[in-house]
Amino acid sequence: MTLDYVHGYSEREAFRLVDQATTLTEILHSDTYYEPDSNVLEAGCGVGAQTITLASNSPLASFTSVDISSESVNSARSLITAAGITNVTFRIEDIFNLSFESESFDHVFVCFVLEHLSEPLRALQCLKRVLKPGGTITVIEGDHGSCYFSPDSDAARAAIACLVRAQASGGGDSLIGRRLYPLLCDARFKGVSVSPRMVYVDAGKPHLVDGFTRKTFTAMVEGVREEALASGMIDQDTWDQGIRDLYRTTEPDGTFCYTFFKATAIK
Ligand SMILES: C[S@@+](CC[C@H](N)C(=O)[O-])C[C@H]1O[C@@H](n2cnc3c(N)ncnc32)[C@H](O)[C@@H]1O
Repeated sequence: MTLDYVHGYSEREAFRLVDQATTLTEILHSDTYYEPDSNVLEAGCGVGAQTITLASNSPLASFTSVDISSESVNSARSLITAAGITNVTFRIEDIFNLSFESESFDHVFVCFVLEHLSEPLRALQCLKRVLKPGGTITVIEGDHGSCYFSPDSDAARAAIACLVRAQASGGGDSLIGRRLYPLLCDARFKGVSVSPRMVYVDAGKPHLVDGFTRKTFTAMVEGVREEALASGMIDQDTWDQGIRDLYRTTEPDGTFCYTFFKATAIK
């Protein structure tokens, strides 16, 4: 099974996702822990970039990690096996047509998936069905509107806007972070709590300059180059300038800010 998804399934994208997860582990996952013997569904596990942290942080919980892409599931399985992790089972599943019995899981975890779906509310409702009463859902998403940097650049903003439009044209919403609270409330979860997680990068944090500004965010913008130019969203000169300006923020006097949103709620 495969899917038309804005970032694609290339090897480069797999490296980007793993790099993204490694760099952001502390910011996003330091407070994600599941109790011994609990059953956790990771929906949209991709190549396993989050799975490795989730399963390592909660070694006595059991994870079922699923994705609609068999290719991604195979990569994730290889990654987890190579890491010697044994508390994860992988399955190919569509979030909108899950084969699990209702109320099968103690917890659900979803990261960087809702932003790609045209029906995020229905996805939450489908995930809620397989969650036990009293079980928790954790959702982590980005929001490209939260991005600002120095030196500022109209061209860089225009290039980022291409990514937002490309994702929207595929039915997704890369500005979904700000919508997690209303979406979870609309899906009738209780105790919805949203925590913004800002990534602030300057030259004093070289691992984030490289791992986040260059290899995560700018690489993601560069990923829609062909689509942006072919559709006439932007002209070649502005695009090239915008990408140069994003890299310019990684120089010693540059800074970069982005906010992720982490939500938790109870069924
Ligand atoms: C950006 S990736 C995120 C992967 C992983 N959660 C991470 O943070 O690295 C989004 C993933 O959602 C998966 N996906 C999209 N629609 C899906 C669906 N209907 N059911 C299951 N997985 C889906 C894609 O195949 C892709 O692997």
